[in-house]
Amino acid sequence: MFDYLELAKIRTSCRKYNKEDVTDDEIQKIIYAANMAPIGSSRYEDIHLTVVKNREVLDSLAEAVQERFKDKETISKIIGEVKGEEVPTKGKDDPFYHAPVVIFISHRKQDLQPGIEWANVSSVALAMHLEATSLGLGSVFMWGALEASRVLPQFDKTYLLDIPEGFEPLLGLAIGHSVIEPKARELTDKKIKINEIK
Ligand SMILES: Cc1cc2nc3c(=O)[nH]c(=O)nc-3n(C[C@H](O)[C@H](O)[C@H](O)COP(=O)(O)O)c2cc1C
Repeated sequence: MFDYLELAKIRTSCRKYNKEDVTDDEIQKIIYAANMAPIGSSRYEDIHLTVVKNREVLDSLAEAVQERFKDKETISKIIGEVKGEEVPTKGKDDPFYHAPVVIFISHRKQDLQPGIEWANVSSVALAMHLEATSLGLGSVFMWGALEASRVLPQFDKTYLLDIPEGFEPLLGLAIGHSVIEPKARELTDKKIKINEIK
C-alpha cells in the first residue's frame, strides 16, 4: 500500500520560507486533506477553515504575540531553558515566519464533549501538514499566535478572520516553500515513552 513512514521521515516544522507563493491548486489539495481528516462523531460542520494570504491581517494578529513575548518569564517557561540573559526569540517578530499563507482552523464553541474541539482541530492540522509535506511544501502548526490572542484579549484581532458566529479559532497552519531542502530523518522510537499492559 502506502509507506507512511517515508513521508514521516521528511515531515518537519518549517520556520523559514522563501517568497514563492502557494498556488490555488496546492491550497485546494490541502483543503481536500482537511476534509478527509477524521473528526469526532463525523461532525465536520463543527470545523471552519480560513485561508489567509493577507499580510496586513497576519501582521495585526502577530501584535498579540509581540506583546506576549514581553512577559519573558512565561515565554522562557514555554519555550524552554533560557541561555544567558536572553529569552529565545524564534517567532517573536512574526509568529507566522513570513509564510505566504496561513490556514486557520476554527471549531464551534461547545460544552457537549469538552476537549474534543482540540482533538478535532489537531486532526485537521496534521492532515494539512502531511499533505503540504507530500506536495513538497514547508508548513508548521500555529498555536502561539492564537494563544497570545486568548491570554491578551486586549490585543485580540481574530475578529479580522471573519469566522462564523459561535466558532473560535484554535489552531493554524503556516504554509510556504521552505528555504531548507527537506532531508529524510532517521526513524526513532525513543522520543515518546511507552508502557505495555500484557
Ligand atoms: C499542537 C502544536 C502546536 C504547535 N505550535 C507551534 C507554534 O505556535 N509555533 C511553532 O513554531 N511551532 C509550533 N509547533 C511545532 C512544534 O514545535 C514541532 O512540531 C516540534 O518542535 C517537533 O519538531 P518537528 O515538527 O520539526 O518534528 C506546534 C506543534 C503542535 C503539534
